[in-house]
Amino acid sequence: MKWNSRNIAPPENWDRSGLPAWSYHSDAFLELEKEHVFRTHWLIACHISDVPGPGDYFTFDAVGERAVIVRGTDGVLRGFHNICRHRGSRVVADEKGTCKNALICPFHGWVYNLDGTLRGAARPNSFPELDKNEFGLIPLELETWMGFVYIRFKKGPQPSVAEMMQPFAEEAALYKMEELLPASGVTDMISEVNWKSVRDVDNEGYHVPMAHPALQDLYGAAYYDEPWVGGTTRSFATFNPHAGRLWSVRNYINLQPETTHLPEHLQKAWGYYGLFPSNVIIFMPEAIQFYNEVPLSTGQTLLRGASYKYPWESRRQRATRYLIDRIDRATIEEDVQLTIWSNEAMKSKSFAGFYLSDLEYGVKTYHDQLRQVLPVLTLKDEPEEARLAEINAEMLAAKAEKAGQQAAE
Ligand code: FES
Ligand SMILES: [Fe+2]
Repeated sequence: MKWNSRNIAPPENWDRSGLPAWSYHSDAFLELEKEHVFRTHWLIACHISDVPGPGDYFTFDAVGERAVIVRGTDGVLRGFHNICRHRGSRVVADEKGTCKNALICPFHGWVYNLDGTLRGAARPNSFPELDKNEFGLIPLELETWMGFVYIRFKKGPQPSVAEMMQPFAEEAALYKMEELLPASGVTDMISEVNWKSVRDVDNEGYHVPMAHPALQDLYGAAYYDEPWVGGTTRSFATFNPHAGRLWSVRNYINLQPETTHLPEHLQKAWGYYGLFPSNVIIFMPEAIQFYNEVPLSTGQTLLRGASYKYPWESRRQRATRYLIDRIDRATIEEDVQLTIWSNEAMKSKSFAGFYLSDLEYGVKTYHDQLRQVLPVLTLKDEPEEARLAEINAEMLAAKAEKAGQQAAE
């Protein structure tokens, strides 16, 4: 049996039980996740077409941090913490917009150049001399990969996005993602579940035949998920030869024009690239989408996403993109319900843990990556909340020491 494009089959006797239930509702653990998963790993903020010209900016808040992405007068895209060096106000209040050639803090009016340096304080005589660089906006890491803008609030264990996504670079390049234009704008919604329940549903296609009638109709027979390897995953499906039981799928298939920028094997297929911790790019013949989720609290998650179109879009492609939106809306609603049911179980005294199928090996390999950065997840019983961070730090130190010893041998 060919499992997936990297042809990785689950080993015999793998642990099918998933993460401990306590990790889905522990406040102390969420603090560790914010630091070790979300602040220190790459997150997609937007696409370059969301900030096309000099002075265009886009803001993105996650886990208590605030980012502003701004294109300079030199055309260069830069990322900064959206924190004024005077008293910490947001320098940019709107989610998205254009400024002339400076960012002006709405609190007392400090002015920053688009390269982040301080242009000047209001009433400068009331301060000692302010160094333009020392009091500039604090930069954060920003990388664009295939047109998508990734940011990282703090340095962490991941290498560059390009390095991790390298296995998919050749295929992704065929989609000319740098040329995309915004179709929906970046939108978000709040779901009343722990963020890991969102991931657990997203990391497997075993639920597609039962829970997603439209996706099953469109591509269910050929769908497969790769396990997570090196921080990435890929899922892929070509359309079913007899797809079209449902109105939206039938019209989508019938209307779909030839997609001239793609080779034949990708013209009737959808696929998904995942990048740890929560980024997904969906590639389709007439549209590209991204989504990611970030925790708001142990029981609330912000689901973000956007859809992009091609500048050469035909009327038929516009129509098929509309049908994709219909299929998506149904799919998202179905998934949100599944995440709620799964998440509820984590507080039940009777829940004995997952028992995963070989087709859900992506869930297990994702959990493995979380255990790498948060080894405290290997503890079946919830440690004392007050000691959780300390125990995790000890376990990380012990792991690092062991790795050091192995390297020396
Ligand atoms: S906080 Fe920005 S100018 Fe005062
Ligand atoms: Fe789903």
